[in-house]
Amino acid sequence: MRRGFIGGNWKMNKVLQEAKETVENLNKSLIFSRGIDIVIFPPYTLLFFLKDLIDLPNMYLGAQNMHWEENGAFTGEISPLMLKDLGVEYVIIGHSERRTLFGETDEIINKKLISALKHGLKPVLCLGESVEERKKDMEKEVIERQFKQDLRRVPINFLENIVIAYEPVWAIGTGLNATPNEAEEMHKFIRTLVEKYANDNIVEKIRIIYGGSVRVENVEELSLKEDIDGFLIGGASLRADSFSKIIEIFNEVKGF
Ligand code: PGA
Repeated sequence: MRRGFIGGNWKMNKVLQEAKETVENLNKSLIFSRGIDIVIFPPYTLLFFLKDLIDLPNMYLGAQNMHWEENGAFTGEISPLMLKDLGVEYVIIGHSERRTLFGETDEIINKKLISALKHGLKPVLCLGESVEERKKDMEKEVIERQFKQDLRRVPINFLENIVIAYEPVWAIGTGLNATPNEAEEMHKFIRTLVEKYANDNIVEKIRIIYGGSVRVENVEELSLKEDIDGFLIGGASLRADSFSKIIEIFNEVKGF
């Protein structure tokens, strides 16, 4: 059985005091969650302070983005060496907000992915179609293109360290989640891509998580789906109580 994975993507939210309170509350409320990898993705400015506050063996620190180079004249960027230096273990690569608001292409995402793996960071690679693409029934085509281009030249033995997040762009921050059947269909499809482009050993091991308006109210029905191994949560991860409740429900349904 694959270990569960739940990420809390705080995006551009929280200053130090709020962040400390959230982590302290999570330390208390998530003691039951041993079978799940829990990763919080705060803004860069908080990483250093939160590292020592995390007090659960299965809770890790993640970054929301990174540059692919180790250092150099890249004003405003953060490198994988800097993240490693702070004890960061995971990094989100190719979030749809990076793709659409900051012009990240599949070529850039591919460079970041390879660099993260090379530096021992575990990438959470986000794939997802836009609303227009879904309306034209192009979602599988889009996901296959992103999958192929983002994972180009990634050695097969590294694939196990990647978590793939299926995040339909129309569901992120909109309150409109994919139905459990829509999500399950895409997760199964992504697993067939892993089989087609990688190999059989990886296919059952790689974790595929869902993101897009996951809340306390809809997490149970999504968790019931076999191919949903966890979630990447934005809005509902900002409060320790809703984030913990989501993890509790997921844990109960999956029986970790
Ligand atoms: P949301 O964000 O839960 O607020 O829809 C999800 C994400 O961006 O990963």
